[in-house]
Amino acid sequence: MTDQRRHDGSLRHLLTLDGLSRSELEAILERAQYYVRQAGEPAPRNDVLAGVTVANMFTEPSTRTRVSFELAAKRLGAEVVNLEVQLSSRVKGESMLDTVFTLESLHVDVFVLRDAEAGVPAMVAGHVAPHVSVLSAGEAHVSHPTQGLLDALTVLQKKGRCDGLAVAIVGDIRHSRVARSASQALRTLGTPDIRLVAPPALMPPEGEFPGCQRETDIARGIAGCDVVMMLRIQKERFADAAIPAGDEYFREFGLTAARLKLAKPDAIVMHPQPMNRGVEIESAVADGPQSVIRLQVANGVAVRMAALEVLAAPLAARAGR
Ligand code: NCD
Repeated sequence: MTDQRRHDGSLRHLLTLDGLSRSELEAILERAQYYVRQAGEPAPRNDVLAGVTVANMFTEPSTRTRVSFELAAKRLGAEVVNLEVQLSSRVKGESMLDTVFTLESLHVDVFVLRDAEAGVPAMVAGHVAPHVSVLSAGEAHVSHPTQGLLDALTVLQKKGRCDGLAVAIVGDIRHSRVARSASQALRTLGTPDIRLVAPPALMPPEGEFPGCQRETDIARGIAGCDVVMMLRIQKERFADAAIPAGDEYFREFGLTAARLKLAKPDAIVMHPQPMNRGVEIESAVADGPQSVIRLQVANGVAVRMAALEVLAAPLAARAGR
């Protein structure tokens, strides 16, 4: 795996949360909290990335994540270019690097990459010039580090801590980069009880998610939980698995108001979006008082500002700041 760090141990790339220490996560989250604003307040703005150029390269569709990365970079004073690249898989590796080298010639210093194929962010990170940073905005089913951070920030805001909590992650865990990054963040931050709740076909392979319990019954899975994190069924990531169809899935695994009563009375409900209402979650729950789904979106910009600032601080310093 490409090392995410510089020789001095500081973070240069952000490809995964795996291997980050608790104090590193806490430092990013503290900085993110500094950038959080209530709705209606002016957005935070400074120029810590003035002189830095950020390219968002997305080869998979995305609205929330791309827009929040763009706003985050702009609010830190960076220049931003957005590229939606459609590449056939046969030529992808080469043309991706060609595009990266072209952008490097145009003085792009930070690449924010989303790609459906595992390994692409690390491959790019392994080829860029020494001053350049790569940030994953979602890599196949493998990793989505800023989503994991924003999920952890949301839990911290609502629960005051991650230690001692019981968290149920429910749904298509097998194909979920969100579940992988969120569980890595929560585990490092001290969450002792993480339960993976899914039908057998959507459970991750044995050996992944070390230390998490597995449960195929949602009632048992969410009983007494502080946090219920629902996931989208990611049909684009598998051809045909033995999973129940929409209605049946909802009957067996959908989060309804009645089921949510099994969790703690003050449990929060999370979802990374996009949601399939009526498939994995009932609208009354998604829009209900326990839902923090919109807060997650709001936290996305703050977390991405913090991550960009941490990675690109040396660049900004070089630019004379
Ligand atoms: C997620 C993703 O793309 O991994 N969405 C997001 O980043 N907000 C989750 C999903 O697509 O289900």
